[in-house]
Amino acid sequence: MSNDHLVIFDTTLRDGEQSPGASMTKDEKVRIAKHLEKMKVDVIEAGFAIASPGDFDAVKAVADSVKDSTVCSLSRALDADIERAAEALAGANSGRIHTFIATSPIHMQYKLQMQPEQVIEQAVRAVKKARSLISDVEFSCEDAGRSEIDFLCRIIEAAIDAGATTINIPDTVGYAIPDQFAETIRQLLNRIPNADKAIFSVHCHNDLGLAVANSLAAVQAGARQVECTINGLGERAGNASLEEVVMGIRTRPDIFTVQTRIEPLHIVPTSRLVSTVTGFPVQPNKAIVGKNAFAHESGIHQDGVLKHRETYEIMKAQDVGWNTNAIVLGKHSGRNAFRSRLTDLGISFDSEAELNHAFALFKQLADKKHEIYDEDLQALVSDSRVTNAVERYRLETLEVQSKTGETPLAKVVLSVDGQEVAAESEGSGPVDATFKAIEKIVNSDTVLELYSVNAITSGTDSQGEVTVRLDKAGRLVTGLGADTDIVIASAKAYVHALNALVSQVERKHPQGAAV
Ligand code: KIV
Ligand code: ZN
Repeated sequence: MSNDHLVIFDTTLRDGEQSPGASMTKDEKVRIAKHLEKMKVDVIEAGFAIASPGDFDAVKAVADSVKDSTVCSLSRALDADIERAAEALAGANSGRIHTFIATSPIHMQYKLQMQPEQVIEQAVRAVKKARSLISDVEFSCEDAGRSEIDFLCRIIEAAIDAGATTINIPDTVGYAIPDQFAETIRQLLNRIPNADKAIFSVHCHNDLGLAVANSLAAVQAGARQVECTINGLGERAGNASLEEVVMGIRTRPDIFTVQTRIEPLHIVPTSRLVSTVTGFPVQPNKAIVGKNAFAHESGIHQDGVLKHRETYEIMKAQDVGWNTNAIVLGKHSGRNAFRSRLTDLGISFDSEAELNHAFALFKQLADKKHEIYDEDLQALVSDSRVTNAVERYRLETLEVQSKTGETPLAKVVLSVDGQEVAAESEGSGPVDATFKAIEKIVNSDTVLELYSVNAITSGTDSQGEVTVRLDKAGRLVTGLGADTDIVIASAKAYVHALNALVSQVERKHPQGAAV
């Protein structure tokens, strides 16, 4: 690979999924991976194969369906983890095992309870084991941001000798500052005798809001892989955001001597998909993918942009996939127009039955809302996938009475394992009454952590997209629902979250579990 190619390693499906409440199903992971492949992401980290049978299946499904990107699985520096990763990646066109062990004094002493020499030994053993199973092996020094530089030099030299082809320097706790982090990368590249035998990578967390700045500083110092996520999703404050890293490199060729393969046109649709799947809305002022990223409110700015776009814009909204918000479909649109517009949005169906189900929902929506936008279609498809999935609970009917001066009342019929059950409840508002009625049936023993409503487009006939997050003894699940009636959207989202609760199996956390 040429020295001016910057490898984009996306870890939305692994580190991104470690955001509390952001877990994804196998099908959702495959759908996102297909978008990342189309965007020309070089490496897709699909999960942590040993974490649970569900994680294994998801890594395997991504490895089996993605052909143009390398698919990677995380593994601790343990034989069983590495074997499980290799097994999940067996069907990949190009697979990578990513193995890691902590290298900072605080992690070695308190978490691993190992001496530095033992850590080096275990790292070397793990890299050799991985290389015996696959040719593309990445080794990460967890908490490198707080590790001693002399120790990093020793362990990295040994890992490269053992066969690591990529060396990743994670700022696991988001502690680094750009100049200092760049200096660490420079020193590693200069001091490690066999540094030229591997690609150096960075993986920055955003605890101080510096993940992208640190990643870009590292690129200037010689790093040639950046690990990042769509919308900056990730553990705690998240990871470096892919869209910001990629557009930073692209917009400032006067500063950066590297290029990525990324096709930015896919950035906004992929951001929306990740937001819909996880239920994490994108903040309006988020760079590149936020609703306001290209909106000019002040008269002076609007005037400037109309006269000459570059007065206030350094990128073109269309280049990163923002469309003009045109009306795309309506009540009279047929199945072919529906399918063709979805194909343009990068959405495909696994079966005709799935397409038919989504098309039926489209017709229902078009009856209620005459102008259908791309955003409506995206919400509708995700809703159709929710309602088409195997469910324990299904919302059959909902009737709500709400009148000034009276307490709202909701009557709900759910099907539970195929049996219809009815309940009614009052509440402080129609949504509260609906959730209480559902709870009378389900008794989920959960706490409502988050309830949010987003208007998908503007106008009073807009669909409301509702996100519900439930907490059951520390385990978070997210549910989504879309409808032009926000109480129905809320009920759908609540039921979706309840289904997620019953369908999930417990998983290990990569950094939480002792090595
Ligand atoms: O933040 C981190 O250190 C990680 C490693 C497993 C690469 O996610
Ligand atoms: Zn991380």
